[in-house]
Amino acid sequence: HAEGNPRAGKDKAAACNSCHGDNGNSMAPNFPKLAQQHASYLAKQLLAFKSGARNDPMMSAMALPLSDGDMADIAAYYAAQKISANAMPVLPPPDEDEDEDEQPAAAPVKSKSVPELIAQGSDLYRNGDRQREVSACIACHGPFGEGNQPAAFPALFSQHADYLIKALTDFKTGARGNTSENMMHMIARKMTDEEIRAVAYHISMM
Ligand code: HEM
Ligand code: HEM
Repeated sequence: HAEGNPRAGKDKAAACNSCHGDNGNSMAPNFPKLAQQHASYLAKQLLAFKSGARNDPMMSAMALPLSDGDMADIAAYYAAQKISANAMPVLPPPDEDEDEDEQPAAAPVKSKSVPELIAQGSDLYRNGDRQREVSACIACHGPFGEGNQPAAFPALFSQHADYLIKALTDFKTGARGNTSENMMHMIARKMTDEEIRAVAYHISMM
């Protein structure tokens, strides 16, 4: 694998900043931050978008014209940028589809607070769930969410919670293809929606 040139990558990434933000720190929470991500992982994802192994209407079009050299340069550029920290997550408003006139059969279950979810997510991240064979995230994504460059395990720290929830949900449903066997598919399929939210909140604060 050829090493990318971050200076050339900066120019080639000009068309990406409208969504991924200045220096790879996107403002919109559904667009992933790319700053400080491993070059190996970034290049792999771009190739996956180009080949169709991973699908996204916007990204598939953006990746199509990129050569292997372009991908390496762009990956080197984003890998060298510093990721920004997130504000505390905010719970989404309750479902608006619900019929307001309908009387609940029982008292509604009180949903967990953000700090409770972060604590739950931290436990799942470090320990997994042996009974249900949910692997601990720490094993691949590291104690600080730093990932692993040679293995192309993505860094997760300070990623937007909304994007993390979408990524895990897409692994769970199979909507997102996986370039590294099926590790994330097998893990996400065993996670409840609440666990996905909990671990995403925790990771977004790492
Ligand atoms: C995802 C790079 C332009 C929207 C990604 C990812 C990479 C990337 C590497 C995967 C991140 C990850 O897995 O953590 C680039 C590059 C661009 C570019 C190099 C320019 C050539 C754009 C533009 C948009 C966009 C212009 C918006 C119109 C998105 C979205 C995702 C994404 C929505 C998440 C897809 C999903 O949920 O699976 N991009 N991007 N990108 N990008 Fe881009
Ligand atoms: C990708 C979370 C456990 C290996 C990801 C992504 C997320 C994630 C959010 C997508 C990152 C992005 O799009 O930027 C988690 C959580 C885990 C967990 C919450 C624990 C519950 C693991 C384990 C392994 C692993 C145990 C290794 C056995 C990977 C790999 C990818 C990935 C290889 C990249 C997949 C691809 O190339 O598309 N993980 N992960 N993860 N994770 Fe995990």
